Amino acid sequence: MNDPNGLVWFDGEYHLFYQHHPAICVWGPMHWGHAVSTDLVSWTHLPVALAPDAAGTIFSGSVVVDQANTAGFAKPGETALVALYTLHDPTGKRAGTGRHESQCLAYSVDRGRNWTKYSGNPVLPNPGARPDFRDPKVFWHAPTARWIMALAAGDEIVFYWSPDLKDWHVLSQFGKALGAHGGVWECPDLMEVSFDDTGATRWVLFVSLNPGGVQGGSGTQYFYGDFDGESFTPSPDCLEQIAQYGALWLDFGPDHYAAVSFSNLPDAEAGPVILGWMNNWHYGQSVPEAGWRGTMALPRTLSLVRVKDGYRLASRPLSIHPLLDQPASDGAAGVRLDRPDTDIHLSLKAVSPQAGFRMIFSGPGAADLVFEFDGATERYTVRRALPDGLTIDGFTHTIFAPRLTAADRLQLSVHLDHGSIEIFADEGLTPITVTHFLGGAFDRVALTVSQARIEKFSVSPVEKLASDTIRTAARIG
Ligand code: FRU
Repeated sequence: MNDPNGLVWFDGEYHLFYQHHPAICVWGPMHWGHAVSTDLVSWTHLPVALAPDAAGTIFSGSVVVDQANTAGFAKPGETALVALYTLHDPTGKRAGTGRHESQCLAYSVDRGRNWTKYSGNPVLPNPGARPDFRDPKVFWHAPTARWIMALAAGDEIVFYWSPDLKDWHVLSQFGKALGAHGGVWECPDLMEVSFDDTGATRWVLFVSLNPGGVQGGSGTQYFYGDFDGESFTPSPDCLEQIAQYGALWLDFGPDHYAAVSFSNLPDAEAGPVILGWMNNWHYGQSVPEAGWRGTMALPRTLSLVRVKDGYRLASRPLSIHPLLDQPASDGAAGVRLDRPDTDIHLSLKAVSPQAGFRMIFSGPGAADLVFEFDGATERYTVRRALPDGLTIDGFTHTIFAPRLTAADRLQLSVHLDHGSIEIFADEGLTPITVTHFLGGAFDRVALTVSQARIEKFSVSPVEKLASDTIRTAARIG
């Protein structure tokens, strides 16, 4: 699998569609795979929702619930789910038409189980000379009472509006020469996110970029500002930060890409919930496979948190929480890991600006995984070695990530699984998502700290939550 597609909540279920090649473990003719969940933790696989046909393959896109039946697909008593996706025509691509990507529509009136491609496709043809023209993300904009689509077109985002999901009109363009470029822009998403302190909201635009990501290869950048129903205008402090740092990154690890938000969430007040693909195009097709390749990262909530020169997104993991707390100890601690899926919560009180820590994950036959913080450089580092005999072209071994706060308390959660470590440092200001292929399972984590007091160090197997506790989980996370 690659990108998450069509994330939507409807009638008690979260739907995850995803870029999928059912035949083998490398990218190929894209389908929309499909899974459903009631709690965003346990998923049930369903049959492929959308498959290629003579017109082309099914690239990324989104699903909306057409409550008011604007497209007219629902009969009385029905509600239509409407998918907007990119049709990718490989023959046109080979012929170099520059028109081989266009936007199409499919709908379901049976809770996403069966999908019908619309006979009037494409609903948004390629205007010409747009070889990269894809990944429609659609939402209902209540103030102007119309549908808005964000679409990636080369290295800019184009916004469109529609009254009925079928007839689309250009509104504005965003992004030329702004933010990180290098490769193509992909998978945009525009959503309202609230400030941690005031509760007011601001619009956040996600733009995935490949190559040119923060660790090389794929990465998702964001912009924050205003959206007036026509165009997106980044805030002055957002632009200042971009001028200073080049881009604002949703995640500082190499393995979080194409993240987009769920639509139609039952608790919209709680803000967006996003999912990202835990991989990187740079090497993702040559990592070890086990009859499958590619996973989704943990679902996250978002907020905007004040930092030195503006705001940054903080991501918090959803849907998991510790079963039990193990006691903290002073100075150095080694704790056995009972299971590969483990949560670690760490809180340190710095006693000098040089405060730091190191966690080493180890196990028989496994190469060590190291996660550390150095107060002198204010940098987090993850080192992922490969076991003897394994090389992966383009694989990043050492990952650096900045600390974005000067708080004297270091607080973080680490979510370890069979092939991944998801770190949420400083309450999500520095998320670092990293896959690993270590050749064996960890059974131990050793913690050493310097110039700091351990306030909490808990290592716990994870427990699945019931769906009605999601808001609580967001706070725990
Ligand atoms: C992003 C992406 C999308 C495209 C899809 C194809 O990872 O390249 O732009 O729609 O994957 O699988």
